[in-house]
Amino acid sequence: MARLLLICLLSAVYLTTTYAQHHYAEDKISNIIWCTKGQEEQYKCQNLTVAIERDRALFDDVFLNLTCLMAYSADECIHLLDREKAHITTLDAGDVFTAGRYNSLIPIMQEKLEGGFLDYHSVAVIKKNTLTDVTDLRQLRQKRACFPWVGSLAGWIVPIYTLQHNGGMEVVDCNNQVKTAANYFNSSCAVHSLIDRYNPIGDNSDKLCALCTGKIPGRCSSTDPYFGYDGAFRCLLEAGEVAFLRHSTVSEMLQTSEFKKLSPDTFQLLCRDGSRVPISDYRQCSWGQIPSDAIVTSSARSFKERNQYQQFLKRVSELYSDAIREEPNQPQTGGGYNAYNGNNYNDQNRNYNDQSRNNPYDNFNSQYDNNNPYTRNQNQNQYDRFDGSIYRNERLDSSFTTERSALEGNTSVPYEKFRIFESRRYGKSNLLFQDAARTLVSIPEDDQSFTKYLQRAIDYIYGIRECPVPAMTLCVTSEPELEKCIKMRTALKAQILKPELICKKMHSHINCMQLIQSGKADISVFDAGDVYTAGLNYDLIPFMSEVYNLGEPEYYVVAVAKEEDPDTELTYLKGKYTCHTGINTAAGWTYPMAFLLSNGWIRPYGCDSIRAAAEYFTKSCVPGAISSEYNTGVPYDSMCDLCHGTSYRYCRRDASEDYYGHTGAFRCLVEGGGHVAFMKHTTVMESTGGKRKEWWARNALNDDFELLCTDGTRAELQDYKRCNLGKVKANAVVTRGGVNYNETQLHAYINLLTYAQQLYGRKDVDAFSFSMFSSPIGHYDLIFQDATRQLQVIPPNERRYDTYLGGNYMRARRITDCYASATQFTFSTFLLLASAFALRILL
Ligand SMILES: *[C@@H]1O[C@H](CO)[C@@H](O)[C@H](O)[C@H]1NC(C)=O
Ligand SMILES: *[C@@H]1O[C@H](CO)[C@@H](O)[C@H](O)[C@H]1NC(C)=O
Ligand SMILES: *[C@@H]1O[C@H](CO)[C@@H](O)[C@H](O)[C@H]1NC(C)=O
Ligand SMILES: *[C@@H]1O[C@H](CO)[C@@H](O)[C@H](O)[C@H]1NC(C)=O
Ligand SMILES: *[C@@H]1O[C@H](CO)[C@@H](O)[C@H](O)[C@H]1NC(C)=O
Repeated sequence: MARLLLICLLSAVYLTTTYAQHHYAEDKISNIIWCTKGQEEQYKCQNLTVAIERDRALFDDVFLNLTCLMAYSADECIHLLDREKAHITTLDAGDVFTAGRYNSLIPIMQEKLEGGFLDYHSVAVIKKNTLTDVTDLRQLRQKRACFPWVGSLAGWIVPIYTLQHNGGMEVVDCNNQVKTAANYFNSSCAVHSLIDRYNPIGDNSDKLCALCTGKIPGRCSSTDPYFGYDGAFRCLLEAGEVAFLRHSTVSEMLQTSEFKKLSPDTFQLLCRDGSRVPISDYRQCSWGQIPSDAIVTSSARSFKERNQYQQFLKRVSELYSDAIREEPNQPQTGGGYNAYNGNNYNDQNRNYNDQSRNNPYDNFNSQYDNNNPYTRNQNQNQYDRFDGSIYRNERLDSSFTTERSALEGNTSVPYEKFRIFESRRYGKSNLLFQDAARTLVSIPEDDQSFTKYLQRAIDYIYGIRECPVPAMTLCVTSEPELEKCIKMRTALKAQILKPELICKKMHSHINCMQLIQSGKADISVFDAGDVYTAGLNYDLIPFMSEVYNLGEPEYYVVAVAKEEDPDTELTYLKGKYTCHTGINTAAGWTYPMAFLLSNGWIRPYGCDSIRAAAEYFTKSCVPGAISSEYNTGVPYDSMCDLCHGTSYRYCRRDASEDYYGHTGAFRCLVEGGGHVAFMKHTTVMESTGGKRKEWWARNALNDDFELLCTDGTRAELQDYKRCNLGKVKANAVVTRGGVNYNETQLHAYINLLTYAQQLYGRKDVDAFSFSMFSSPIGHYDLIFQDATRQLQVIPPNERRYDTYLGGNYMRARRITDCYASATQFTFSTFLLLASAFALRILL
């Protein structure tokens, strides 16, 4: 038997190895799908496939069968690559961030510009002799601006960052760059400012689309005439006052037939210090340095596949770029690329030494050969030594031969050579690659990440997401809540939502109140009873409330009994076993006790409601009843007798006690021997009929339970509107009020929770994603009630505990414990006197 097993095992091992080897051999791919970002790119890509097919012999063993898949935007390409419907595309550095951060795409190659540069400059372009009132960036406020698209690094992120730091742009919404920019500029065009990614709540104004001219649909999208760097240039000419562009954009545009009549002198650059310089002096007037565009692929592709892509694309760039051969013969227009020469430009990070003063183009070749000291030692980030140059020269000639032979020797027809870094013939610029690119360099395996590619430019990206309020500390009271809070923190971080969430666990709700008051924590989510204590004793204010199924931030307090136990009724609970959500909670304590006391069903013992309950009920579970923080009088053990928690968890007023909270009270009724349980009206329906997987709830059905009404009758669970102990305000999020009130902080907290629930407030999520309003199996109502459908902002004039809780609650509270708010008390005493007085007058 054992031998048989061994044989089986061995053959299994053998099979796996052979399979693995086989698989390895299959690893070589033969196809590559290029995602194009529009019709013109698609044409160019298709031309490329024709050229490649024609020159197939020149690819040797690096040939890949290229197909072009057309999408409508970079965003769509990112998703197609993520779903492996396509393999590669080229992206602006800002989009490389988005693709890397949210869709795990990685850069594998980068464009190299004239002079060997791997980065370019972000500039602000204006028309000469305009904006004479602007002598400082602050005066750009309320101007009309043209952006290539929201999220482009040189055209959006760098200018927004710069204006936040030097232009007086204030962050009006920590999680929405568009709102911040819209608040600053006059009508502008920033394509994508209304797409979901930049408008998650859906309430962005269309101010940043107002200047765009596209027809609907398509306006303010990537088909808008003002989309892209060329579009933003057009926008500047036709509608805007300032455009945020790459340093090369203007000279590129002036070379097109459409704009060639314009002189470079028509434009100026606006520098960070408010001064102006000619277009060609962009280096003195740069707003920031940006990595050149990258070719990205999915991180799911193996290193071997990525390497094949690189080899193939490298051959493509060798065969179809001719900048080095032809550039010296071309006329040099304006302040274009030749401006790289003659200046001792030296980028700290990339360290490209420009030695090419006399003959830039020859030097461009030689500076990458192995004799050049700069490429060898100093250049850590130099991906590629351009070692294809020698190969390239001899092969390029043969490529000319092929071209002719392809035309069957008819030399009188000049053959149109395909060029990857040229787009004009397709009616647009920068298709597939930037026209300013000269070659492609491979990014080594270890550097294939958006962070390594972006280097310091990532500071701009995170910089514009900085919030004046850096963090929000949420105070929780149990281990399971802390775990949920940490998951929430991870989820919010994944979306780079600000302020950063910090989790802190304290031993009680009162402890949390003290911490928030002292500024060591910022928010907590409280039951109405704790909102009361927090407001009365610690100056905390409620600012957002949960909303359950009523549409309003309220719930009904109900008393539930088993259908099979007809002897339990609300008007006579003497000697019963009772289940409560917790001491001083609205549904589990204040409302039922106020009802029983005010109707004279139980003896009040002079405002000592714990004693009153202990003398009346035989056994109970009232979490927190024997804690000295909540019960300053004599502890009555019977008040915890029904509770379920073991050791330190026993009768604790937090989620570590199984019978704590609304669902806990229901569980106490189902399995803990209780006759009646007090809770909110949604709880039974949430827990019965198989909605909870825990063993105690598995067989509980709706029909097994009934509501106890105040008149001694019973009702179906759905009849909570008729049969209840009163309506209470929903649980609320509280923060500091009083002397420590800080409106900036409050707004940042509201903003964070609003975006958080937009992204994580859904219930029907798979097990892998975070959901704010649900709790893992075995737990319930962690931090937020599971019944929560949304969080609603409490209007500013209701952000006081007594205003929020309302008259009914305050009355109930006064009945159960006689130290209701002193001011409130005198106020109502005054009312009582006044009405007595009025009564006497009437009589
Ligand atoms: C390239 O791929 C396309 C579609 O995948 C296919 O139709 C075509 O025959 C392939 N060509 C070569 C030369 O393999
Ligand atoms: C915004 O631009 C319009 C013209 O488009 C102009 O009339 C208005 O004065 C500008 N607003 C401000 C505050 O400058
Ligand atoms: C060569 O081109 C000329 C003029 O374009 C044309 O008349 C001729 O037929 C072509 N010859 C061949 C062999 O294609
Ligand atoms: C490529 O396609 C365009 C039209 O889509 C055409 O005008 C051009 O001549 C083609 N060939 C080359 C080599 O670009
Ligand atoms: C409010 O909070 C912000 C951020 O925490 C802080 O910068 C600001 O000084 C505070 N304002 C007041 C009035 O304390």
